[in-house]
Amino acid sequence: MAANLPTEHRALVLEALGEGFQVKKIPTPQPGLGNAIIRIESAGVLSYHREIYDGARGYNFPKPIVGGMSAIGRIAALGPDSVALKLGQLVYVDCVIHARDDPGALFLTAIHEGTTEGSKKLIRDVWRDGYFAEYAKAPLENCYPLDEARLCGTLGYTIHDLMYICYLLVPFGGLRDIRLEPGETVIICPATGGYGGAGVQVAIAMGARVIAFGRNEKELARLKEHVLRGTPNASIETVKMTGDEMTDAAALKAFGPVDAVIDFSPPQAAKSPHVKSAVWTLRRGGRVSMMGWNENPMVPTVLARNITLKGKLMYEREDIELFMKMLERGLFPRGKNFVHTKVFPLEDWKEGLDAGAEFLGIGKYVTLAP
Ligand SMILES: NC(=O)c1ccc[n+]([C@@H]2O[C@H](COP(=O)([O-])OP(=O)(O)OC[C@H]3O[C@@H](n4cnc5c(N)ncnc54)[C@H](OP(=O)(O)O)[C@@H]3O)[C@@H](O)[C@H]2O)c1
Repeated sequence: MAANLPTEHRALVLEALGEGFQVKKIPTPQPGLGNAIIRIESAGVLSYHREIYDGARGYNFPKPIVGGMSAIGRIAALGPDSVALKLGQLVYVDCVIHARDDPGALFLTAIHEGTTEGSKKLIRDVWRDGYFAEYAKAPLENCYPLDEARLCGTLGYTIHDLMYICYLLVPFGGLRDIRLEPGETVIICPATGGYGGAGVQVAIAMGARVIAFGRNEKELARLKEHVLRGTPNASIETVKMTGDEMTDAAALKAFGPVDAVIDFSPPQAAKSPHVKSAVWTLRRGGRVSMMGWNENPMVPTVLARNITLKGKLMYEREDIELFMKMLERGLFPRGKNFVHTKVFPLEDWKEGLDAGAEFLGIGKYVTLAP
C-alpha cells in the first residue's frame, strides 16, 4: 500500500562491537511482499543491551546493524499481501522472527542471529535492522494490533508504558509452556531482576500464588509492595536467598508444596544453587521452566522425582495473542502500579542503555523514543 515515506530517516547504527552507536540518516525501507513499514514510537531497552553491543555477552549478529529489540509503532506502509493491518494502526512489533518455510529457524532482531544457517541468512540478508530508528521494516506477522482505544483510552496506559509488554511476554511464554494454572504456587527466581520481576507480575495476573525468591531483601520488599498496591488480593510471599542450597530449600518449603518454578538466572548466577533449592520444594511431578542461564544438571533433584524441566526461548505466537487479550481485559494493574517508564531520545542512547542496566526490577522499564 502506497505511503508518503521520507527517503531517509534517523537510526542508531552500530558499525562494530564496542564502537558505540552513531545517529545516522539511512535510507527508509520500502514496503514489499510480506512486510510492513513501521513508524516507531517506542523502542524497548534490555537490561543487558549495553553488554550485547559492547561485545561482553558474546552474541553474534551481522554488522553494521541498527540496534533494538521489540517496539511499538504505527503502520506507515504495507506490502500488497497485507489483508488486515491498517495504515496508522498502533502495533506491537515483536523481535522474534521465524523463517516462513521453517519456523524452527528463528532469531531475535538486532540481538542474536539464532543457531541455524537459515536464521543467520535471514538476519544477514532480509531482516537485519532493529527498531532503534524512526522507521523499520518488519514481517507482517510480527505486527500485533493494539486496541489503542481500550489500552490507551479506557485503561489509561501510555504507549511507552505498553512497551513493558516485551518483558511480560517472556515469563508468560515460560509459564504457559509449563502449564501454570490459577491457584497453583510458583517460585520465581531470581525475582529481583527485569524478567524475574515481570514474571511475578504475570504469574499474579494468571491467578497463581507467587513465591518471589531473590538475594536482595530491599528489592524483595519493594516487589511485594508493588504487587499489593496494584493487586491488593494477590497471593505473594518473598524468600531471601542465602546461597546455601538446603537452608534456602527449607525456607521455601515453609509455604507448602510448590507446583512450578521459573528461573531467570543471568550468566553471573550460573553457579548459584538457587534453582536446586527451588526444585527441592516441588511436589512430585512438578514443572520447571529454565529461561535464564544455569548449567546445573540437577540430576538427583530432578530425575528421581519425575520433575518436568523445560528450556524455553521467548514465547509462541498464541502466547502473544492470549497475553494481549489479558491486557485488554484489564487483568494487569494500571498507571505506576503497572510500570514506571524512563524514556530517552535516540541521541541519548548511551544514557538510555545505562539506565536500562540500572533501572530494573518489577514495574521499571526503559525505552527510546525515535
Ligand atoms: N529464555 C529467554 O527467552 C530469555 C529471554 C529474555 C532474557 N533471558 C535471560 O534472563 C536472564 C535475566 O535477565 P534480566 O534482564 O532479568 O537480568 P537482570 O535484570 O540483570 O536481573 C538479574 C537477576 O539475577 C540476580 N543475580 C545476579 N547475580 C546473581 C547471583 N550470583 N546469584 C543469584 N542471583 C543473582 C539479580 O539479583 P540481585 O537483585 O540480587 O542483583 C537479579 O535478580 C538473562 O540471562 C537473559 O539472558 C532469557
